[in-house]
Amino acid sequence: KYEAVLFDLDGVILSTDDFHYKAWKKLADREGIYFDREINERLRGVSRMESLAIILERAEKEYTEDEKIEMATFKNDFYRESLQDLTPDHVFEGVKDFLGFLTGNGIRIAIGSSSKNAKFILKQIGMFDTFEAISDGTNIENSKPDPEVFLKAAEMLSVAPEKCLVVEDAEAGIDAAVAGNMDSLGVYAVCEYDKNTYSARDIQSVDRSIF
Ligand code: G6P
Ligand code: MG
Repeated sequence: KYEAVLFDLDGVILSTDDFHYKAWKKLADREGIYFDREINERLRGVSRMESLAIILERAEKEYTEDEKIEMATFKNDFYRESLQDLTPDHVFEGVKDFLGFLTGNGIRIAIGSSSKNAKFILKQIGMFDTFEAISDGTNIENSKPDPEVFLKAAEMLSVAPEKCLVVEDAEAGIDAAVAGNMDSLGVYAVCEYDKNTYSARDIQSVDRSIF
């Protein structure tokens, strides 16, 4: 049924939540803005500048565009530095086995991530050469819930969107799949989202009869 499976990266292949949280927290503390893990959950699948806008909802002053860019850069520098600690051990249980099942059945695999750090992360976890195509924050104008990142991934593989299944942990990502006319599989944080075509608690419990 599916010719390709397009994987989100953060929250699907591995968890980067903690790295993002600590970096945004460092910025929020510097600026005296309240930030906690619940707010961090809202940043799932959302681009860097949109994440900053969510954090600034709690700010007491208005910031200029230049100040916003400085803040996003401050966060990203700290985030990148902390990603040095990422290793192949961070890859979620069952991911390698699932990817092997797909490729073994002739189903092609690609990444569709909003992150501009996607390639760096893939290198750190030893999976840079695992996927046939990588569509990420560096090749898109509009981030999820816009379907662009997944449409680009499908295009890189020359597979029609209707033949693609998107695997996501974020509502914005499932909405992007729907907008791109693709089926979706919601895992982890979004396993109970009502717009999923399929859902699974984790990668290991995905029902393989859907392929
Ligand atoms: C992923 C994460 C988001 C993050 C976004 C941009 O979608 O789930 O939390 O904000 O990527 O990441 P970047 O690495 O470009 O700052
Ligand atoms: Mg994600």
